Amino acid sequence: MYRTHTCGELNISHAEQRVTLAGWVQRIRELSGMTFIDLRDRYGITQLVFTESGNAGLYREAGRLGREYVIQAEGVVCERSSKNPKIATGDIEIMAERFTILSSALTPPFTIEDDTDGGDELRMKYRYLDLRRNAVRRNLELRHRMAQEIRRYLNDEHFLEVETPVLIKSTPEGARDFVVPSRLNAGMFYALPQSPQTFKQILMVAGFDRYFQIVKCFRDEDLRADRQPEFTQIDCEMSFVTQDDVLQLFEGMIKHLFRTLRGVTFDKAFPRMSFDEAVNEYGADKPDLRFGMKIVEITASTKGNGFSVFDNAEYVGAICAPGCAAYTRKQTDELTAFVKRPQIGAQGLIYVKFNADGSMQSSVDKFFTSDQLKTWGKALNADTGDLLLIMAGQRKKTQRQLGDLRLEMGDRCGLRRKDVFAPLWVVDFPLFEWDEETQRFYAMHHPFTSPKPEDIPNFESHPERIRANAYDCVVNGVELGGGSIRIHNEQLQQTMFRTLGLTPEQAETQFGFLMHAFRYGAPPHGGIAFGFDRLAAMFAGLDSIRDVIAFPKNNAGRDVMIDSPSPIADEQLKELGLDRAKPCQRAITPDS
Ligand code: AMO
Repeated sequence: MYRTHTCGELNISHAEQRVTLAGWVQRIRELSGMTFIDLRDRYGITQLVFTESGNAGLYREAGRLGREYVIQAEGVVCERSSKNPKIATGDIEIMAERFTILSSALTPPFTIEDDTDGGDELRMKYRYLDLRRNAVRRNLELRHRMAQEIRRYLNDEHFLEVETPVLIKSTPEGARDFVVPSRLNAGMFYALPQSPQTFKQILMVAGFDRYFQIVKCFRDEDLRADRQPEFTQIDCEMSFVTQDDVLQLFEGMIKHLFRTLRGVTFDKAFPRMSFDEAVNEYGADKPDLRFGMKIVEITASTKGNGFSVFDNAEYVGAICAPGCAAYTRKQTDELTAFVKRPQIGAQGLIYVKFNADGSMQSSVDKFFTSDQLKTWGKALNADTGDLLLIMAGQRKKTQRQLGDLRLEMGDRCGLRRKDVFAPLWVVDFPLFEWDEETQRFYAMHHPFTSPKPEDIPNFESHPERIRANAYDCVVNGVELGGGSIRIHNEQLQQTMFRTLGLTPEQAETQFGFLMHAFRYGAPPHGGIAFGFDRLAAMFAGLDSIRDVIAFPKNNAGRDVMIDSPSPIADEQLKELGLDRAKPCQRAITPDS
């Protein structure tokens, strides 16, 4: 037996007991004839004591141990004279009587502490050491509990967990596919699933009624703090449901997770907001509702004063930052620099200060009378002490820029607290979005999303006016999940493909299997998928999903620990029928 107890469970009730522990040497301290060793395992830390007066030989040997050695130690549990209330075993220590080195260790390249001195890249290269740190382990424990609670909730709601294949044909969801060459079918490729979308719909046709899966998805897209090339979804589908049924059931799941994992309860139903309202008032389809500072359009009251920026703009909008009128020139310059950053891409920023003494000050004083400035203030409910920030330009773009500025001001004003949670459903998304570059429509959610029945007549004349039965679950400005009620009728699905620019042949090659399935009795169905990693990061209070993934990829999509991706041998390439000089072309998908 390697151990009688873990390093986290001994307390004063075990005093006088002989115990054996096994773990890693966290810390070694010498103190006048005594060596203290903190022994660590997943469960905690226990202090071992070696005394020169008790056993000089053992004491000397203990002095030769190094950080991260793996040892087994036997001794007697004793009450400590100076207790450590910070750890669960802090009342006791083990008077060591013998120990064995199970594994020696090189000096780790960074400290295995909560506040480590290791940089990101180093920690990822030595992820096995990084994972020994409490903070990282706690995140993975949270992930584990999350998975348990999700399964508990969905099982109680009669969902069946069904696995779907990983080597599939591409399912277009807006990103590029990762592809895998097939040795047995030379020159052909599998695609890794961007999500199991079509499979879960097929499961509904097969009569499974309620499906879920905690499943890996793969998307070859540019990476950000909340995006990984492989990530985990809580993927769900239900038959014979309306949008309302889906929202209610999954609102229940999110509430269950908040309650069990964070102790947070929501008494009221999550608010529902249309896509249009979200974009008009928050400049984003994932509004952060922890604070107000809504965007207000003031286009009409800005025209005709000779200020060309406003006169030439399709749209002028503003936000009102409470209590920020005292911003210095340096601070307003910082805000201008912020909106001019390439990621935001604005031309400039106009401000109006409603000073505490009742006076007003603005960067467009030359063009507008104080009465006009007051009109804007009124439109935004500005009070004395507030700062109006105004932007102008093309409608959609300017709303998005104001949305980014709003989040920045929310941060600056301390209104985006990590311990406050503001969930909502965004509904009534457009079915399509027009892409100027390729001059065609794309499915805003995916091509299997159903239109609102009353909007179907617009298919031929105005596809952009069709609203979808699609919904997103948003918390604190993060899109945690999204889904839709699906098309379950072959003709409508064909119309959808046609509008997306697919020929009947292309539709047949890509999705024939789904449309054939629809011919054999398809139930009305709909579903949703949540980003498991994003949910875990939110519960852990973290901004990056990398911190809640055991082996994440870096921003270049690399796993620096295993050094992947990496070249493969010529022999392997030959076997796969691939030519290094002429890489095979990716299969073109309608929505990638
Ligand atoms: P969607 O593409 O909206 O929908 O994805 C669902 C949720 O998955 C998370 N997510 C990601 N998380 C981390 N890294 C990524 N690269 C990434 N991409 C998406 C988000 C998102 O809300 N098949 C549909 C769902 C459906 O219609 O049922 C789908 O995949 O939290």
